Amino acid sequence: TVLILDYGSQYTHLITRRIRQLSVFSLVVSGTSSLATITQHNPRLIVLSGGPHSVHALDAPSFPDGFLEYVEENGVFVLGICYGMQLLVQKLGGVVNVGEDQEYGKMEIVVEKEDGLFGMKEIGGSQTVWMSHGDEAVTLPDGFQVVAKSLQGTVAAIENREKRFYGLQYHPEVTHSIRGMETLRHFLFDICGLNPDWKMQDVLEEEMKIIKDMVGQDDHVICALSGGVDSTVAATLVHNAIGDRLHCVFVDNGLLRYKERDRVMSTFESDLHLPVTCIDASEQFLGKLKGVTDPEKKRKIIGKEFICIFDGFAQELENKLGKRPQYLVQGTLYPDVIESCPPPGSGKSHSHTIKSHHNVGGLPKDMKLKLIEPLKLLFKDEVRQLGGILNVPTAFLKRHPFPGPGLAVRVLGDVTEGNALEILRQVDEIFIQAIKDEGIYDSIWQAFAVFLPIQTVGVQGDQRTHSHAVTLRAITSQDGMTADWYYFEHKFLDNVVRKICNSVRGVNRVCLDITSKPPATVEWE
Ligand code: XMP
Repeated sequence: TVLILDYGSQYTHLITRRIRQLSVFSLVVSGTSSLATITQHNPRLIVLSGGPHSVHALDAPSFPDGFLEYVEENGVFVLGICYGMQLLVQKLGGVVNVGEDQEYGKMEIVVEKEDGLFGMKEIGGSQTVWMSHGDEAVTLPDGFQVVAKSLQGTVAAIENREKRFYGLQYHPEVTHSIRGMETLRHFLFDICGLNPDWKMQDVLEEEMKIIKDMVGQDDHVICALSGGVDSTVAATLVHNAIGDRLHCVFVDNGLLRYKERDRVMSTFESDLHLPVTCIDASEQFLGKLKGVTDPEKKRKIIGKEFICIFDGFAQELENKLGKRPQYLVQGTLYPDVIESCPPPGSGKSHSHTIKSHHNVGGLPKDMKLKLIEPLKLLFKDEVRQLGGILNVPTAFLKRHPFPGPGLAVRVLGDVTEGNALEILRQVDEIFIQAIKDEGIYDSIWQAFAVFLPIQTVGVQGDQRTHSHAVTLRAITSQDGMTADWYYFEHKFLDNVVRKICNSVRGVNRVCLDITSKPPATVEWE
């Protein structure tokens, strides 16, 4: 295992993923974890991540007491990246200064020493890397050597081979560091002697075994399917492990996309043979939402209603089976469980609720179910890979994310007003189909339409109209936390807008949302 101690860098997840891409298992723990937390993973290599702090700050985060003794005694390799390297230098008795010239962005570094970190690269050979730092190491601790410097003369890479300490001032994990992957590969395999033996097939087998052992021969398991990738892959995995003792429910809350219910149910049943009960609760949901315009209230109502239905489903199962299901499957992913060092000034947690997210798998707290979270160590792209092994159709695995509260957060205001939902479904379907036909669906993180509760004046077929306006939104993103708008070809947009206005009754104006996140969020509510 490679253990990553996180000091709040925006690239911590990326380094974890890069190492996994090289088929080596890696995990993130907080940079201030206790020694017991670190040692329990028995790591061969520990990476100290970058971070926004200065090692001179009073509250600069650091590894625990006894860390340096532990790694030395156990022959553990340590690689410090950016802040991590400065921390290592400072803790080992070197000097880190506040850099006079801060270095951000692409830089050239020059290799000063053959062998070691960069393999047998020529002395004087240069490469482009991605730097992002203010402070710099000016005096190295005893036993360290400079391996590379930037053109400005800053120390860019250091090593103490005897003690197994290494440091990079730049970020090898970002693609702008041209030879970053090559450097990581050399470091993991040739220097640390790790083996590229982490495979998705092994993850699958391991998780199936854990589930079998946990659930035993008699217990039953329930799972809420949202139609999204995570819950579907999690359910399919559990189904493979325990068969029809898994009971899934898919709730039609009346807020689904065009033909969504039929489409996902057919995948569940025909392609995946999952035991799914489909509950049509659209009237119940829409009844509760009638007249409600506040976005947070809408979300809360939907969350509560879902729990109510889920409870009923569990009760029905108990009546039928004569015993209560003991377990609940959740499609929780790794980024949701990583405990990181928060950036300075951010407070310990994200205390300000921007939106109360509701996942269809949202937990009824008083149900006392034990959790099965087979994806909780995986990133989204790894879940897709796992889904591939489990024969989840590729088109399904590549679906854009869809929010738990569904179209309720895309019809602004009262969702039950007029035929807003129906109009939105049609507009959304035309937009998404056009994106698929254009071959750009996979380049977009998420695309959708939004119904605006305003009417505008138009002229259609020589007639004055007073109809609705809709908005199209498409974004690119890594994880939905930040996003940029997607640049469409003008011709494409022109065709889509014509098609919408010509075929959807009640729409005479189409807008395009070109706001990034921040300042906007992805969804409009
Ligand atoms: P926002 O609008 O917060 O969205 O910028 C970020 C990502 O999260 C999705 N989203 C949700 N997903 N339940 C979910 O499961 C929710 O309540 C919810 N709200 C937003 C959104 O579609 C985007 O991918």
